[in-house]
Amino acid sequence: MKKVLKVCGLVLTMLMFFACGKEEKKAIYVGTNAEFPPFEYLEDGKMVGFDIDLINAIGKELGREVVMKDMSFDGLLPALQSKKVDLVIAGMTASEERKKSVNFTEPYYSANQVIVLQESNNDIKDFADLKDKKIGVMLGFTGDLVITEMGLPSEKYNAAYAGIMALQNGKLDAVVLDSETAVNYVKKNPGLKLAEGKGEAEDYAIAVRKEDTKLLEDVNKAITTLKSNGEFEKLLEKYFK
Ligand code: ARG
Repeated sequence: MKKVLKVCGLVLTMLMFFACGKEEKKAIYVGTNAEFPPFEYLEDGKMVGFDIDLINAIGKELGREVVMKDMSFDGLLPALQSKKVDLVIAGMTASEERKKSVNFTEPYYSANQVIVLQESNNDIKDFADLKDKKIGVMLGFTGDLVITEMGLPSEKYNAAYAGIMALQNGKLDAVVLDSETAVNYVKKNPGLKLAEGKGEAEDYAIAVRKEDTKLLEDVNKAITTLKSNGEFEKLLEKYFK
């Protein structure tokens, strides 16, 4: 009996040892808002897109399983800060305002705000022409900020497709949205076009909690590796070329 107990004890110690050894490699929780094609969106109920492929490739480099969590865009940074997730990848612009509360990795994509219009609309060419127009923005997106900073009122939507639908139904004159996503919607929805004028460039990056400096460093290293071994280029080609 004593021997059995001893063996049991040994097995238990070994199990604990392995469990602890795995501690370092524990899953990494990543928040996104899967309503932003081609960066993240749902296809047959599955989360897909450039950011999803990128974060999985980063997870592979780090030797950690990636667990995605889909939530509203304006809930992402609060979820990061309250440790519900460890990273946020969501085509998120590394804005000065956000940098006050979180850190961002090296940028991985550059975009601008653009104006989506009905094809028949010829009086809006640039941001200056938006005065007195019915403008749609997505709550908490940089487009929301740009329009607010211009002192213009806007209708706020929770997801880009909802704004695009309102534009198609004639409830809006214009939707201000990130370039790549806007191009995506225009391609898929005949009758829409982009105005000529573009907003300033903004950089997308992955958000990390301020105190997680080691994780920030590791993710940056992984991005550098993916950029130098051609993996990153492959992803760009898959989604944007
Ligand atoms: N780049 C914009 C921002 O940071 C929009 C990002 C929206 N992303 C999303 N997954 N819904 O505000």
